[in-house]
Amino acid sequence: MQTRVTDRQPWDVEADVLVVPIRADGAHDPALAELDRRLDGALASYRTLGEQVGKAHAATVIRGREMGAAWVMALGIGQLADFDRLAALRFGAAAERRLGGRHVERVAVWLPGALGGHDELDERLLAELVTRGVVEGMHDPSTIYRDDVETAPPALTELILIMPDADTVGAATAAERGRIIGEGTNRARHLSQRAANDVSPEVLADEAVAIAKAHDLHVEILGPDEASALGMGMFMAVGRGSDNPPRFIVLRSGAAGATDGQGRLLAMIGKGVTFDSGGISIKPADHMEEMKTDKTGACTVISAMATIATLAPGLPVMAVAPAVENMPGPHSTRPGDVVRALNGKVVEIQNTDAEGRLILGDAMVWAERNGATHLVDVATLTGAVHRALGSQITGGFGTPQPWWDEVAAAGARQAERTWQLPLLADYRKDLETFYAELNNSSGAEASLVKSGLFLRDFATRPWVHLDIGGSGYVRKATPYMARGATGVTHAALVELALHGA
Ligand code: BES
Ligand code: ZN
Ligand code: MN
Repeated sequence: MQTRVTDRQPWDVEADVLVVPIRADGAHDPALAELDRRLDGALASYRTLGEQVGKAHAATVIRGREMGAAWVMALGIGQLADFDRLAALRFGAAAERRLGGRHVERVAVWLPGALGGHDELDERLLAELVTRGVVEGMHDPSTIYRDDVETAPPALTELILIMPDADTVGAATAAERGRIIGEGTNRARHLSQRAANDVSPEVLADEAVAIAKAHDLHVEILGPDEASALGMGMFMAVGRGSDNPPRFIVLRSGAAGATDGQGRLLAMIGKGVTFDSGGISIKPADHMEEMKTDKTGACTVISAMATIATLAPGLPVMAVAPAVENMPGPHSTRPGDVVRALNGKVVEIQNTDAEGRLILGDAMVWAERNGATHLVDVATLTGAVHRALGSQITGGFGTPQPWWDEVAAAGARQAERTWQLPLLADYRKDLETFYAELNNSSGAEASLVKSGLFLRDFATRPWVHLDIGGSGYVRKATPYMARGATGVTHAALVELALHGA
């Protein structure tokens, strides 16, 4: 898809569909009045009817008249004061999703100057987030294994942003950034939702190798023999029950030993459980099929590497994605088994379903040993975070505080919401057992906090953990998002890494 920004009037732009934002307060600027005159007063009469009164994401499609666009989509934005970054992102996505099943290739979106100004939404950010929204709106998981889906959002060839008062050159650069980030989000979502009989740890590694080739990244894949020889006892304990062997996936850019503009080497670490049955501590059958998306963190960091390589080629950064399949079987780890982690700690595995923290702990130690100065891990780690916060915000932990603040601010700039949970030292003693310094599951009380405390034992440098067990996946579609993987944290990671560019 091509992006273009124009400062012409909305009626002068040729397109299949012209998207027109409609405010709930009914305020009209002169240009909207002129557009409506050309539409023979259709917008005003729809408002009188109560059909299109500017409610957020409500969309009405009407025939274009006396203008370059064949069709007009009046799309509600709610109250102007609520039109923040997230609203801009969802506005673009809602426009694209409303066109599901329609024969449309060129879409023009009118972004009058009045839309900006809230939540530090300057014209560039507006162009970036609306474009990213349109691109993310194109993702629909129903098309992963089928290409005859009648309701699929159309693959656009051109997106034209109409910004009459803007610096169009700056806005065009921003729109391009939005397109690249949106495509990266969708790459993560697509990979994360491919089925477990399709994407094993080996196939995930193959995908990483393909991305490395396409983007000129260094790639390193460790198999079971190498991981065992290094001493990754926690990582190796998880994949043992499966016939699909584990793969420890690493992507890197930049010269060996190099750091970014902030003197850092950021490691993005993603949980790559290609299927989580729970292992011997097997999960209930209800929704177990969703555990094919337990590799979402890995898919997110792998895709973020490709996005970063496109926007800032050669920037020193790494992605680490431990990939395993957690299955029951004669070779599986048993509850009560004791293993030694890569950092030497002795760990008792009391619940084989608390597997994410095991593979992440070893990955964090590996990343530090290989030069990472700052860590961010992304993982579908707990169901508890979903119960606590739902799907609309990412829960997380971090230390020291300025590093959490920086990661959260990068997310906020990209319209992503995060909520910091406390690493209460009081609960740390509950992780000890008679046999080991750490046990991977220590009762229901404060289990979410304990998941963070467990990981904390494997970081000696600034570290943030983002638990996307709630925010990574939605079971219900909305006007602005398909059901399924959300791609959350991809944009935050890209924004964070680019601070060092
Ligand atoms: N992958 C799951 C967490 C999960 C569940 C994410 C549902 C998204 C939706 C994780 O491996 C897990 O099983 N966690 C356990 C931990 C417990 C055994 C300490 C959980 O949350 O129940
Ligand atoms: Zn899991
Ligand atoms: Mn599990």
